[in-house]
Amino acid sequence: MNQYIADNKDRFINELMDMLRIPSVSADPKFKQDVMRTADFVAQKLRDAGADNVELCETAGYPIVYGEKVMDPALPTVLVYGHYDVQPADPYELWHSPPFEPVIKDGKIYARGACDDKGQMYMHVKAFEVMMQNNALPCNVKFMIEGEEEVGSANLATFVKNNKEKLEADVILISDTGMLGNDTPSITTGLRGMSYVEVEVTGPNRDLHSGLYGGAVANPINILCQMIASMHDENNHITIPGFYDNVQELSQEERAEMARAPFDLEKYKKALDLSDVHGEEGYSTMERNSIRPTLDVNGIWGGYIGEGAKTVIASKAFAKISMRLVPNQTSEEITEKFKKHFESIAPKSVKVEVRPHHGGEPVVTPTDSVAYQAAARAYEDTFGVKPVPVRSGGSIPIVPMFKSELGLDSVLMGFGLDTDAIHSPNEHFGVFNFLKGIETIPLFYRYYAEMSK
Ligand code: BES
Ligand code: MN
Ligand code: MN
Repeated sequence: MNQYIADNKDRFINELMDMLRIPSVSADPKFKQDVMRTADFVAQKLRDAGADNVELCETAGYPIVYGEKVMDPALPTVLVYGHYDVQPADPYELWHSPPFEPVIKDGKIYARGACDDKGQMYMHVKAFEVMMQNNALPCNVKFMIEGEEEVGSANLATFVKNNKEKLEADVILISDTGMLGNDTPSITTGLRGMSYVEVEVTGPNRDLHSGLYGGAVANPINILCQMIASMHDENNHITIPGFYDNVQELSQEERAEMARAPFDLEKYKKALDLSDVHGEEGYSTMERNSIRPTLDVNGIWGGYIGEGAKTVIASKAFAKISMRLVPNQTSEEITEKFKKHFESIAPKSVKVEVRPHHGGEPVVTPTDSVAYQAAARAYEDTFGVKPVPVRSGGSIPIVPMFKSELGLDSVLMGFGLDTDAIHSPNEHFGVFNFLKGIETIPLFYRYYAEMSK
């Protein structure tokens, strides 16, 4: 199979670059035709690779690309999940080359979606082709590639609930996460959940002259800043009452185990041009960004932000706030607690409104399953070292639903790196990582089929 990969790698890369040229930004309706075209592209590539019954499953939003190869109903079935939509590329001016004109520089493919998730999802399409061409697909496979992951997967959730039979499988396989480094492979064993809200603070009924009214009426921007600042105490604990009630604390043994994963704080700071890190007292950086919940402002606006100065007290101020959740918090519970708290700390001089956006639940995946063990063996074969289990801070809202709706665990075989700049300008994916993924995935199938017997 490795010979086949070596002989075809240039074509694999070119096909990925073709897909990266289509700006499939799900958040912005301006790109609707492009998102649809990307779905067609993925469907065609699945057909070309040898999948049967390839179809676009319509939803209330963007279609889900489905395809399958049933070798023998008696064999186990792997359900591959990925997404063909991407984050907006803004701010465009910070890209060294245009986000939808992929280029290869220093062995990396630069484009929006190169890593998250077109590059990683396409490894599975090509690994499938490799297995088909070498008569080496040892079990059944189903593909489910969606176009709304970056906007919360609400329609996929409905699809999963309504198509349990179609999606019957033994395990879910996903490459939409990262690993520690190219010489320290790791497998993701947990994802944080999310509660996302938008808040609006209203002061006077119109923008006012800040000299005539300043000091005498509430400035909603000042108030919003105070309210947000008060939500962390001096130890960077979140002050929302009950916020930590359901947080599962790790045992000392589990924390010691976590601390064994290689992590270089100096390198971490240097990569981000930081003189120091920041976070919850009593927890390491690795813990802060994986097993602990957070509250972060993602955007804040109001008042005058144009050229020069305008003396004004704005009528309204806004912020978008995300809270990353860990077991056993739930998005519904935390959204409710946030809302109640935010309303309770608002002074009488303003009105506030809290509007919930999408949510998602946290999830932890087992390491003692056949599927995890198969994945670990596959990485060990291709990287030469045993992969480390690592809980990630990111979220993939559909993963906990695979468990709750289909009863299936996911194996999160990521090949990206933290430095790949996903969601940022100059996102990229190593050619090494892309090809390593294509090499490692068939080994997972082989070991999974063998060990399931
Ligand atoms: N692939 C990412 C999530 C991810 C990246 C998890 C790296 C672990 C490591 C996914 O596309 C993503 O960006 N998810 C969003 C959530 C969604 C509801 C917008 C996130 O985590 O912000
Ligand atoms: Mn992703
Ligand atoms: Mn993403």
